Amino acid sequence: MDPSVVKAYRALHEAQNAISRAQTLDEALQEGLKTIIGNCAAESGVIWYADGQAGNALRPFFWVCSTDLTSCSHVPGEGSVGRVFQSQRAERYLTFTEGDDPWTVRDFAGIDVTAMICVPFSAGERELGCIQFINKADGSAFTAEEADVCEMMALLAGMALDDNENLLPMWKPGRTIIEVRDVTREFQNGDTVTKVLKGVNLDVYEGEFLVLLGESGCGKSTLLNILGGMDHPTSGSFKYMGQEFANADQKTLTEYRRDNVGFIFQSYNLMPNLNAQQNLELIASLVPNPMDAVEALRIVNLAGREHNYPSMMSGGQQQRVSIARALMKRPSIIMADEPTAALDYTTSIEVLSVMERIIAEGTTMIMVTHNEEICRMADRVVRMRNGRMDEVTVNRRKAHATDLVW
Ligand SMILES: Nc1ncnc2c1ncn2[C@@H]1O[C@H](COP(=O)(O)OP(=O)(O)OP(=O)(O)O)[C@@H](O)[C@H]1O
Ligand SMILES: [Mg+2]
Repeated sequence: MDPSVVKAYRALHEAQNAISRAQTLDEALQEGLKTIIGNCAAESGVIWYADGQAGNALRPFFWVCSTDLTSCSHVPGEGSVGRVFQSQRAERYLTFTEGDDPWTVRDFAGIDVTAMICVPFSAGERELGCIQFINKADGSAFTAEEADVCEMMALLAGMALDDNENLLPMWKPGRTIIEVRDVTREFQNGDTVTKVLKGVNLDVYEGEFLVLLGESGCGKSTLLNILGGMDHPTSGSFKYMGQEFANADQKTLTEYRRDNVGFIFQSYNLMPNLNAQQNLELIASLVPNPMDAVEALRIVNLAGREHNYPSMMSGGQQQRVSIARALMKRPSIIMADEPTAALDYTTSIEVLSVMERIIAEGTTMIMVTHNEEICRMADRVVRMRNGRMDEVTVNRRKAHATDLVW
């Protein structure tokens, strides 16, 4: 066998081992990159990682070179890194000649680049970024075989990451907007006291889709009512943006609800004698800075239905009007209590698709449901049992509403 092929296989094998031994994503990427750089005798290497923020800027995640790259970033589509990330096609500059990409040659963070290989880096369907190998340590050019190894390496590293869910990048929570500590809720009927919430602790992060799941009667709606400022805990602390509301008076709670929380329930609670637009305009008069009713209907895919009365609309359409009504106050959080329980499969998906878009645009969503399948769309799933939080799971791979089947 050709010695260069043997060498390539050895490099791949070593890098794959390094990745499978790793305990964290950081370790996997660092060990993988070091191994290939060693095998290709490259001078420098950088893993550029899409930061997942708006714009998906590519930032250096790990690098082997003497220059500090902390302040570097790339725009998708621009420069070799951005182009490779966007096109998912490798760029190979085995040696640079006159006329090659001038940005890469001259300005790469002060490194005098003479040869470069830049390959896409993805795990399964998720595009993570790209990996750049720069300059041979001895000043010679990269060989075509080495370029193949680098490409194959990035592919295998991505597959190894895809196989090992634990190594996939963690979902990063936004800042905490709601903090619930040791919350209990008891109901007194005559001499009997029912303990419904028995010490709940929960943080809700900005922009997340949190699903509350649990058997009938476990306290989901009771908890949601406290989070939404419709009820007080018997004991414990409930903070929104650092402000304590556990013992707040009615006026303060009403203001909290009005300014921050949109509600959606199983029943649509639309006024039957008002059309869709009028149902929304009823809210507009109650809140500061309301959204335009026609715009809110457009967001829920009901443009043109402004003058329809509830009786003329399907359950899914009525529920979308009630979502539009929740949007009217431009809430930072939407709390939805079994919003699809009364709907058939197709209309449920319509409603969930609308919610998915609203979440993607930055609204935090807390949804109570019995439907396990909806959990696949969530960032986090909180399972409640008998007044307590039983388990919290983070979804590393979120499904789209249209992927759900039941
Ligand atoms: N105002 C109240 N007075 C007395 N008991 C109440 C009150 N509100 C709720 N409960 C009791 O608290 C328990 C939890 O109710 P909750 O509505 O929170 O359950 P849930 O998890 O939302 O159930 P479901 O899935 O059926 O909607 C139930 O046993 C219920 O009877
Ligand atoms: Mg309930």
